[in-house]
Amino acid sequence: MNYLSGGVNSPIPIPKNFPNNIIAGEGPYVIDKNGQKYIDMWMGYGALLFGHADKEIIQTTSKCLKNGWFFSYQTKIEKDFSSVLHDLIPCAERVRFATTGSDAVAYAIRAARAYTSRDMVLSVVGGYHGVHEAMIASEGIAFKNKPDLVHFNNTKESIKAIKTKKYACMILEPIMANSGCTPPLPGYLQALRKACDETNTVLIFDEVVTGFRINLGGAQKKYGVTPDLSTFSKAIACGLPLSVVCGKVSILDKFIPTGNVFFAGTFNAHPLSLAVGTLVIEMLRDGKIHSRITKLGNRLRSFISNSINKYDLNACVQGTDSMLTVAFGCKDFVHGISNEKFNQKTYDIFVKKMAERKILFPPLPTETVFLSPVHEAVIEKIEKAFDEVFLEIKNL
Ligand SMILES: Cc1ncc(COP(=O)(O)O)c(C=O)c1O
Repeated sequence: MNYLSGGVNSPIPIPKNFPNNIIAGEGPYVIDKNGQKYIDMWMGYGALLFGHADKEIIQTTSKCLKNGWFFSYQTKIEKDFSSVLHDLIPCAERVRFATTGSDAVAYAIRAARAYTSRDMVLSVVGGYHGVHEAMIASEGIAFKNKPDLVHFNNTKESIKAIKTKKYACMILEPIMANSGCTPPLPGYLQALRKACDETNTVLIFDEVVTGFRINLGGAQKKYGVTPDLSTFSKAIACGLPLSVVCGKVSILDKFIPTGNVFFAGTFNAHPLSLAVGTLVIEMLRDGKIHSRITKLGNRLRSFISNSINKYDLNACVQGTDSMLTVAFGCKDFVHGISNEKFNQKTYDIFVKKMAERKILFPPLPTETVFLSPVHEAVIEKIEKAFDEVFLEIKNL
């Protein structure tokens, strides 16, 4: 008997031929209770930057556990790690640690509201910023203060909305990863920055996915646009619960005790996660991992694109760095895939056929594929599967 409500803990529908009894992970694989290994192309929603069960992360967490792993007092590591982040992330004049991406976004919006004395939030169609009431636009309940939405990469529409001066903040992912992987068009983020400056609107880059996956300073560093506030999670502690809200002193100081905006959380700044975060940054410092996974991303995108042409499929591959999306029924998706007439039926067939070959892709094309260095060992197998599955799709 399955006592989980609805049998799940996530809203993402899981295909019938996916394993539902995973007991372990190892490098590029997840392993089910029968010992069957599957190549993982979802990698903990992007959190597992080094793949499953990385040895150095295991060593660090074991050491940390021996020293005691949770305290109600201030720890040395929270101060040390905030200083590391201050040096790495362009907007991080001040830093606060929380536990999940949703927490960090909720705190950022709360601070923006206090700073501007405005209530409304502007975001983008197809964006996802967590489960809290300020950001959930539909999903069954109509909350009073749901955000207004514009289209990602539509500069004119976005600027027009910001210029109404109605909004406490505009929040978006600088590279959309929740509507397929959609990079910003040249000039889009810069135009948002300028409009937010002119209207005293807080610009929030949600880097829960892109942070530490793209580079050590986030997409804000890659594109040279510094937001007022930013949120980080997922890859920062490679799958342990940790999130960050950081940004301008004048806004972060709205939080208690310098200000009166409430901020709390039992597991905020968890020492185990901070120890892993500290290690992860050292592992990434020389840039070698990022260049390896970007190379892998370029290789796979180019292979998939050639295969699409070879079999003349109505499909596309899109992405940047170590992130990509395969979609059917469209040739690109500049404003995010949720704004395109993509073909979910063919995508379902693709996912099913890949799972038959023991390769697990995200069940929805709105979810991004994430590569880690551990995929290097299995890249030929992944490419071979693409070739076979695309041929079968062509012959449907
Ligand atoms: C961009 C973005 N922001 C916020 C969140 C929410 O993070 P969490 O699920 O840790 O609450 C997610 C989760 O996928 C995300 O992708």
